[in-house]
Amino acid sequence: MIYSKIIGTGSYLPKKILTNKDLEASLDTSDDWITSRTGIKERHIADPNENTSDLAYEASLEAIKSANIDASDIDLIILATTTPDKVFPSTACTVQSKLNISCPAFDIQAVCTGFIYALSIADKFMKTNAAKNVLVIGADRMSSITDYTDRTNAILWGDGAGAVILSASKDPGILSTHIHADGKHENLLHVPRNKKEKGKSDAIEMQGNQVFKFAVNTLDQIVDETLLANNLSKSDIDWVVPHQANIRILEATAKKLEMSMSKVIVTIDRHGNTSAASIPLAMDEGVKSGKIQPNQTILMEAFGGGFTWGSALIKY
Ligand code: ACO
Repeated sequence: MIYSKIIGTGSYLPKKILTNKDLEASLDTSDDWITSRTGIKERHIADPNENTSDLAYEASLEAIKSANIDASDIDLIILATTTPDKVFPSTACTVQSKLNISCPAFDIQAVCTGFIYALSIADKFMKTNAAKNVLVIGADRMSSITDYTDRTNAILWGDGAGAVILSASKDPGILSTHIHADGKHENLLHVPRNKKEKGKSDAIEMQGNQVFKFAVNTLDQIVDETLLANNLSKSDIDWVVPHQANIRILEATAKKLEMSMSKVIVTIDRHGNTSAASIPLAMDEGVKSGKIQPNQTILMEAFGGGFTWGSALIKY
């Protein structure tokens, strides 16, 4: 049996920080409202000339270093993003060029569930012997698709990137992945293309309240599905590394798992919602802080636009 083992993690956050107080100056909102409804205090915002591939490249360099491999050992790059640098080439190809290596590279688009989808695909390559060292990246520049005059959206999103190196191993790594989609709810969460009215094209539109309810119910189900598939019980999970959309969604998942919030890696207060980047950013923070230790069992889960949702159960 071949497993995909995480042997390195890395992350990158742009220097500029946008606080709730900063947003108070330009929007009819308050630090109190944002903190109590979302858990967000601040988020990082990329420079106008800093592309998704730049964030992804920096996170990848860290992951390669922490895995103690040469970039040339990587035989596949999968990059999850909603905010590619260009329509084409894929941002994964741009990162491959920046790393100056030669291997297949492609993007996948599953919005906030993107990193889980990317892990799932990478695991399939590994299990069929088609790759031995895969660079899996989640990177997003959500500020590039955010309307900063819309208080229901501007407060939520942040920019960043996280990456892991997965390596073929006989020791347990990814135990299972579960991915789902339901395209019927497109209008609740989407980015219309080239919308002319109000001059606001390519900006996120979300019916937050409805998405919230859907997310909580669906994440409940994915927890059950993951535990059942692995014949595990709630108490077998050491850490939850969730997509960071709203602290109240994270609390609902912890409650479902009968788990203290101290076992959930939380970055939303400082990162906001960085879409595909949020899970690998949280994973890297969990590892660097010494919270996540070898041989522990990690549950990653996400819900996002599409709708898409999914989970990965990992022996770290
Ligand atoms: N400041 C002050 N008031 C605000 C703000 C703001 N920034 N934004 C909205 N309000 C007001 C609304 O206008 C509304 O006022 P009203 O009652 O007078 O009409 C009131 O606050 C409540 O609005 P709701 O939208 O019901 O607020 P809610 O508690 O649902 O919080 C939020 C909104 C934070 C967006 C929440 O619904 C949420 O987190 N949704 C889920 C997001 C998610 O999980 N997305 C999926 C992943 S993301 C992806 O895939 C790209």
